[in-house]
Amino acid sequence: MINRTLLITGGAGFIGSHYVHMVARDHPNWTIRVLDLLTYCGNLANLEGLEGRIEFTKGDIADPDTVNEVMSGCDAVVHFAAESHVDRSLIDSRPFIHTNVIGTQVLLDACRRQDVQRFLHVSTDEVYGDVAGTDSLSLESDPFCPRSPYAASKAAAEHLVQASHVSFGLDTVITRGSNTYGPNQYPEKIIPLFSTNAIDDADLPIYGRGDAVRDYMHVEDHCLGIATVLEHGKAGEAYNLGARLEVNGREVAESILQAMHKPESLMRYVDDRPGHDYRYAVDPSKAESLGWQRQWSFEDGLPATVQWYANHESWWRDIKAGTHYKSHDAAWYESRPSASS
Ligand code: NAD
Ligand code: TYD
Repeated sequence: MINRTLLITGGAGFIGSHYVHMVARDHPNWTIRVLDLLTYCGNLANLEGLEGRIEFTKGDIADPDTVNEVMSGCDAVVHFAAESHVDRSLIDSRPFIHTNVIGTQVLLDACRRQDVQRFLHVSTDEVYGDVAGTDSLSLESDPFCPRSPYAASKAAAEHLVQASHVSFGLDTVITRGSNTYGPNQYPEKIIPLFSTNAIDDADLPIYGRGDAVRDYMHVEDHCLGIATVLEHGKAGEAYNLGARLEVNGREVAESILQAMHKPESLMRYVDDRPGHDYRYAVDPSKAESLGWQRQWSFEDGLPATVQWYANHESWWRDIKAGTHYKSHDAAWYESRPSASS
């Protein structure tokens, strides 16, 4: 499409901001609107350089008035905004229901009223639940089995998206991405947390025995997958996005320490996460059949990412010094003694 007006929710967050930069680069004629509440993990610094290029609104996706206003005249919506951290959902799940469930419903209702041509919902492989104990990969047709409040809220959102397609004929597509890493990720997820801790010679808190496996995908690959599904996905369908790389928590810690030439003595095994899912692994063949292919290997992507955090200390030091970061850190990690103690 030559001229398109795109609404991107959550565009000041980690993946959303990479996607905004990518669209601004690849589609100079498109109008880009970003709606973001700038919660603890939303950060305007992630959109640096795009001043004058994008229309930014600070607002809540669960507020119908705000949503109706910013969606006016939009051709498509790409919906990233979410509460995204499993551990926080174990402490207080209310914001997850507000944003991930009610916020998604408000967006879908507005899309119907405004005749939006396509709604892309950014979901997660966590809706499938734990697939440990087998080497099979989750397929889009597999049943949902969410096990954390975060995963449950994302599964609920997906059901609302699918219901809007079936009941009202809304053109929807869903992506189910695997664990994503790269620059600008709030340092609560494992890779930015361990990278920034290692820079400071602080411990890397590994849950349980570090056996839990994730399929780590570079953020650029995730964004390219979303762009592919937006253009070529079939209405009403969901598409897995994953790197076909399975790495456990111990290996993540070892790789980060190796990349930074830091000692393995920084690895600290702590009490496991309650209800920890021990394996997520998706089959991305359906998205690959649309022409998407991941570009980054973990061997290249991880050291490049660690180096980014080493080169951008001011970005994450400000965050780590803030009250939102410190209060979660204190509430969560101080109650997780070393597994050996
Ligand atoms: P993030 O936590 O970095 O960013 C979320 C963004 O949403 C922030 O900018 C925040 O300010 C905004 N936001 C939160 N509540 C809002 C509200 N009520 N109204 C408007 N804006 C609000 O998240 P992320 O890691 O970039 O994830 C983006 C999306 O991708 C999420 O939907 C997440 O479920 C999904 N996803 C993430 C991963 C991952 O590994 N990070 C993997 C698969 C899928
Ligand atoms: P995380 O980055 O929180 O993503 P998710 O839980 O959504 O997959 O966690 C990734 C893996 O790393 C998961 O198995 C839990 C583990 N983990 C740790 O071992 N220590 C930590 O401090 C964190 C945050 C995660």
